[in-house]
Amino acid sequence: MRLIRTTVLLALVLLLGCDAESTKVGVILPLTGPVSTFGESARDGALLAFEEVNAAGGVRGRPVEVLLIDDRNDPAATVEAAARLAGPEGVIAILGSVSTACSEPLAAWCEKSGVPMIAPSSTNPFVTVARDGGRRGFVFRACFTDSFQGAVAARFARRHMNAGSAAILYHSGDEYSTGLASFFAAAFEAQGGTIVGIEAYDVETRDYGPAVELLRAARPDVLFLPDYYARVGIIAREAWQSGLRSELLGGDGWDSPEMLDLAGDAIRGGFFTSHFAPDDPRPEVHAWVARFRARYGRNPDALAALAYDAARLLAAALERADADDRAALRAALAGTESFVGITGTITLDEHGNPVKDAVVRQWDADGPKYVTTETP
Ligand code: PHE
Repeated sequence: MRLIRTTVLLALVLLLGCDAESTKVGVILPLTGPVSTFGESARDGALLAFEEVNAAGGVRGRPVEVLLIDDRNDPAATVEAAARLAGPEGVIAILGSVSTACSEPLAAWCEKSGVPMIAPSSTNPFVTVARDGGRRGFVFRACFTDSFQGAVAARFARRHMNAGSAAILYHSGDEYSTGLASFFAAAFEAQGGTIVGIEAYDVETRDYGPAVELLRAARPDVLFLPDYYARVGIIAREAWQSGLRSELLGGDGWDSPEMLDLAGDAIRGGFFTSHFAPDDPRPEVHAWVARFRARYGRNPDALAALAYDAARLLAAALERADADDRAALRAALAGTESFVGITGTITLDEHGNPVKDAVVRQWDADGPKYVTTETP
């Protein structure tokens, strides 16, 4: 029985019966580059889902074949991968990518090309909806959006951290970071808090010292850092070394095993909003974490859980579709209702977005710990 084959395409083909005609699904993830732990986790979550689907007989009696391409978190590479997968490789749908910066252009391409797409983890609103407001009917996601995530972070800061003031340091060259910064700022002020400083850095910035110094002088109760672990880890360390003692708060981009190596003690006590926590007391979570651990020998993170849910949701839609084509699959995906996932129960709204809970987690010396669940 052949389970996994790697080709020059970096394709992982999961076939149980090699003779049966398969249903091809394309997966595009950042397996290398600045957010590589996200891509690796998402790959492991999605493959676990498709392995389970195939072990249970596949979809409509056919095994699912997964073709996986690394986009290195480079938006141009994401779109190139999509053209290859949906063109010569003939996949019926695409699962990917991870970051908003890659999924937004991927979504525009999939919409134009009529290829159903499900983004496991890209949270900016402008993935499923174009910037001119046009709905992307072929595009769906498995995660909540940043308008909700920013509001949850603000609510948590006000109610649980008792913060009256907050400052924000964000990445102005990145859509995820910029979007989450502004949603947090609006919600924090709407809930009676005061934003006492906002600073930004860009893709070239290597020294966060001057920005950190300005924010330290503003003495905020909370410093909000809406970016991915690679930069947040360095910023947190610099902020601590500069004498800043505000409490740290962030979003889903903080969830990486590399955070502690980068930030060390500086991240301890910091809170972040996310989609999933392996120590969440919900029973569905417990059973799935045991399966993931048995398969990979480590705990899953949010990316693994979201990609697992996205893959199962896609397989369920493939099963329900009236025909084996992209239009039928698109209609089936749009009809997703009360799908019970690991990251919550998913009903896709008219924009292809789920409405679901968020969790708050706190960094400890050996990893993030579950704190609470916040509902929409
Ligand atoms: N939400 C992030 C984005 O849109 C990606 C992400 C999701 C990162 C989950 C970590 C965990 O860019």
